[in-house]
Amino acid sequence: MHNLSVVIRATASYLPEKILTNDDLSRMVDTSDEWIVTRTGIKERKIAAEDEYSSTLGANAAKKLLAKLDFDPMGIDLIIVSTMTPDYICPSTAALIQHAIGAKNAAAFDIAAACSGFVYGLSTAKAYVESGLASTILLISTEKNSAFIDFTDRNTCVLFGDGAGACLIQKGVQGLVIKELNLGASGEESGLIMIPAGGCRFPATNATVANKQHFLQMQGKEVFKHAVRRMEESINVCLKAAHISPEAIRWLIPHQANIRIIDALAKRLSLPPEKVAITIDRFANTSSATIPITLDLLMDQKKIVDKDILLLTAVGGGLTWGTVLLEARLS
Ligand code: UT7
Repeated sequence: MHNLSVVIRATASYLPEKILTNDDLSRMVDTSDEWIVTRTGIKERKIAAEDEYSSTLGANAAKKLLAKLDFDPMGIDLIIVSTMTPDYICPSTAALIQHAIGAKNAAAFDIAAACSGFVYGLSTAKAYVESGLASTILLISTEKNSAFIDFTDRNTCVLFGDGAGACLIQKGVQGLVIKELNLGASGEESGLIMIPAGGCRFPATNATVANKQHFLQMQGKEVFKHAVRRMEESINVCLKAAHISPEAIRWLIPHQANIRIIDALAKRLSLPPEKVAITIDRFANTSSATIPITLDLLMDQKKIVDKDILLLTAVGGGLTWGTVLLEARLS
């Protein structure tokens, strides 16, 4: 008999239909398929329709999840949404999704941890379940990055895509057991990834709009330098706490921001390519949604089997970073 642990019972994801290829982008800005593939690993990305929002993408992922489990939305008592591209500053995207899926008994809030949002969300969910404050949590990471991207800026517009991933978290004996967690932040680097205007510091004015300050700005080269180091450090803390060596990892599921960052990380951990999950080629960087989307694809393709050790790791705006170690208990 297993003890009850906090588990991810199931996963789901939703990607919008429209595909934007590198060739499409090369007709919009001065770039090329060759530059994008070699510098980032991205071949194409999905872009939400005009009337699809972060709440819509997230609700679609949630509905797929509930259908998969034949689960009544009235049985959910908390909805946590991670997003850096909310429908509104207020209300939360979680509240919109609560309504869209009919989860009337659920409390709902958003967390802001940019690309690390899913790992931050897992830690929040685990703490709520362990404390008894909630028993059935819907965690959704959803991003309509395309709404915050300047499609005339080649430095950013080639990098991002839209999408959502969702999972149901409860105490149980079956699922992906949330074993170890490590989170960190360094506000000193808050200027490296930001959407400068639209908040209380620079409310929307004609000038902020004219200066394109409502679009995402990123100092890519600087972020790159921090990314590998922060994720490696965070992974090592988790592995040490779990008394697990890197060889025991079956899947590294890293945030999908750049294939070169992922390759460098895998090299530092001496992980062969067959242990590293990659979806950046098809979906690009969907911020906090990259990890749950990738996790869902692996689950869907039955590439995760009983006793597999999974390592989820991310770095993003804030800067924030974090790692979660999961163990599959599927039989
Ligand atoms: O998700 C949150 C975390 N985010 C990240 O982890 C992102 C981390 N950073 C990166 O992935 C990379 O730094 C980028 C992909 C953003 C950029 O790659 P890079 O190798 O650091 O390129 P760079 O910014 O140093 O630019 C090199 C050159 C520049 O030209 P010059 O100044 O050398 O003449 C850029 O203007 O490449 C140029 N460039 C492009 N050329 C063609 C930048 N973007 C493009 C483009 N097409 N799309």
